[in-house]
Amino acid sequence: MKKIKEPSETKFYPQKQNAFTIVLLGFLILGLLGARVVECDIVYQAINCRKHSAVLTDFGAKGDGVTSNTAAFRNATAQLSKFGSDGGAILIVPPGKWLTGSFNLTSNFTLFLQKGAVILGSQDISEYPLIEPLKSYGRGRDAPGGRYISLVFGTNLTDVVITGENGTIDGQGAFWWDKFRAKELNFTRPYLIEIMYSNQVQISNLTLLNSPSWVVHPVYSSDVIIQGLTIKSPVDSPNTDGIDPDSCTNMKIEDCFIVSGDDCIAVKSGWDEYGITVGMPTKHLIIRRLSCISPDSAVIALGSEMSGGIQDLRAEEITAYNSESGVRIKSAPGRGGYVKDIYMRRMTFITMKYVFWMTGAYGSHPDEGYNPKALPEVKNINFSDIIAENVTMTADLSGIKGDPYTGICVSDAIINLSPNPKKVQWNCTDVSGITSNVGRPPCDLLHDKSIESGCDFPNDVLPIDEVQLQTCKLASQQISH
Ligand SMILES: *[C@@H]1O[C@H](CO)[C@@H](O)[C@H](O)[C@H]1NC(C)=O
Ligand SMILES: *[C@@H]1O[C@H](CO)[C@@H](O)[C@H](O)[C@H]1NC(C)=O
Ligand SMILES: *[C@@H]1O[C@H](CO)[C@@H](O)[C@H](O)[C@H]1NC(C)=O
Ligand SMILES: *[C@@H]1O[C@H](CO)[C@@H](O)[C@H](O)[C@H]1NC(C)=O
Ligand SMILES: *[C@@H]1O[C@H](CO)[C@@H](O)[C@H](O)[C@H]1NC(C)=O
Ligand SMILES: *[C@@H]1O[C@H](CO)[C@@H](O)[C@H](O)[C@H]1NC(C)=O
Ligand SMILES: *[C@@H]1O[C@H](CO)[C@@H](O)[C@H](O)[C@H]1NC(C)=O
Ligand SMILES: *[C@@H]1O[C@H](CO)[C@@H](O)[C@H](O)[C@H]1NC(C)=O
Ligand SMILES: *[C@@H]1O[C@H](CO)[C@@H](O)[C@H](O)[C@H]1NC(C)=O
Ligand SMILES: *[C@@H]1O[C@H](CO)[C@@H](O)[C@H](O)[C@H]1NC(C)=O
Repeated sequence: MKKIKEPSETKFYPQKQNAFTIVLLGFLILGLLGARVVECDIVYQAINCRKHSAVLTDFGAKGDGVTSNTAAFRNATAQLSKFGSDGGAILIVPPGKWLTGSFNLTSNFTLFLQKGAVILGSQDISEYPLIEPLKSYGRGRDAPGGRYISLVFGTNLTDVVITGENGTIDGQGAFWWDKFRAKELNFTRPYLIEIMYSNQVQISNLTLLNSPSWVVHPVYSSDVIIQGLTIKSPVDSPNTDGIDPDSCTNMKIEDCFIVSGDDCIAVKSGWDEYGITVGMPTKHLIIRRLSCISPDSAVIALGSEMSGGIQDLRAEEITAYNSESGVRIKSAPGRGGYVKDIYMRRMTFITMKYVFWMTGAYGSHPDEGYNPKALPEVKNINFSDIIAENVTMTADLSGIKGDPYTGICVSDAIINLSPNPKKVQWNCTDVSGITSNVGRPPCDLLHDKSIESGCDFPNDVLPIDEVQLQTCKLASQQISH
């Protein structure tokens, strides 16, 4: 083994990491250190920079796509968690194919995937231990009982970042989809990334492929920033929602491109009696500059699990191609909760079955224990500035008998129909509200009011938009032996 360079040269500027150097020396003495190569400067934007750093290979990982690195990832996060109270740590995943089972993130921590780094989800079910169902769902989504832990998992964390130079996390989901379709799974499939009970979360500049089920699932969390994700799953893969903000407050999703077998974004907050009891809404959610392809589902769905409530969603500059519905509200008697103060504007949809689709009869209950008298409150839903091409049906809106969806406003829509459109373009039952400048006559329940300013869109600034990302730098350096 060659001698390593002076510690001062081996350190990432500007970090002081004596404690970590000692850990590294420990590995060296044990002969466990592989090539530790970081060839280029690393510059990235994050909610916080870190004082300590390590490379996955420091923990014996092999990027050959075949060797299991589950122990390396788990050891790395366990070791680096020790720096949580001393400026935090960043774990660099270098170029290579890093096969791994599930591992947990820690607080004051950054997982950084360099360009060319690919984390591959293991296909050994024993590497995804079972965890409890979510309290607000009462059971797993696919099956009653426990659920397989997500590939990248974190709970009860403060300040966690998953980012990189567009590195990839590939869940290799086909293995799970096949088992799910064949009804061979006794528990709910893992998600690609799940962050629970956490605050100050950033997930950015990554490519996320082939999740076993939902791709990014922040739940019971706050101050969540999601930016620059490319998310792709085959359009026929089961339940591969792109991003599911679930009982989260102060969150934004920006500049993402999503191709999904299910909804591109599904906003949620728990399921029937369990969601009502937990009572945690999704609130103050911004979605901007989303591009979506979702042939069998929605660009943005609200629900169907919305029992903790959904309030103050602001979505703008949304582009979709070949999707089933633009905006979809899904609820049912038994859900309780609410969907209110929803604002969406500047949406461009090319090839869309339903531009607007709302249903109050979605069904789908966790068990027989739901209360059919728990009715959702759906109100103040504002849509403006919509251009849609090749549309089959403009609006299919049905609320609940005796519990109408109210305060619906649609303004300034240019809708061009497909060569084979539905005869009825606006079908409204149990809804009320207004339209303004929507082209062909809307339904009677949403009569034309010609409001000059269009439907509302708030112009106050939400706290999540005031979070400034810092520029973090790690100087290039090389240690090899
Ligand atoms: C993501 O990458 C782009 C460049 O590709 C960069 O401008 C942006 O700051 C990065 N964002 C984050 C949050 O890392
Ligand atoms: C990784 O963790 C395992 C079990 O906890 C331990 O036996 C092993 O020595 C650790 N390896 C490294 C490189 O830390
Ligand atoms: C994370 O860092 C903050 C600020 O330095 C500190 O107050 C907190 O205790 C750290 N959290 C953990 C779990 O170490
Ligand atoms: C990850 O966290 C979950 C939930 O707290 C726990 O059950 C599991 O054992 C942890 N996994 C590891 C490898 O520490
Ligand atoms: C995580 O936080 C939740 C909610 O505060 C709490 O109920 C749970 O016990 C915490 N779990 C752990 C492992 O600390
Ligand atoms: C990230 O990688 C994906 C997949 O290769 C690619 O489609 C996307 O354009 C890349 N994003 C950026 C910002 O380079
Ligand atoms: C599900 O349970 C059945 C019956 O106990 C068992 O035969 C099967 O192997 C289990 N499937 C998985 C994927 O664990
Ligand atoms: C839009 O939303 C606001 C507030 O949520 C609501 O009061 C109103 O009825 C909706 N419609 C219009 C035209 O503003
Ligand atoms: C229009 O939509 C239909 C489905 O309704 C689709 O088959 C066709 O390819 C689309 N046309 C264009 C030009 O995209
Ligand atoms: C309109 O919606 C109602 C309620 O969902 C449904 O019963 C009816 O068949 C629909 N009519 C058309 C023409 O689509």
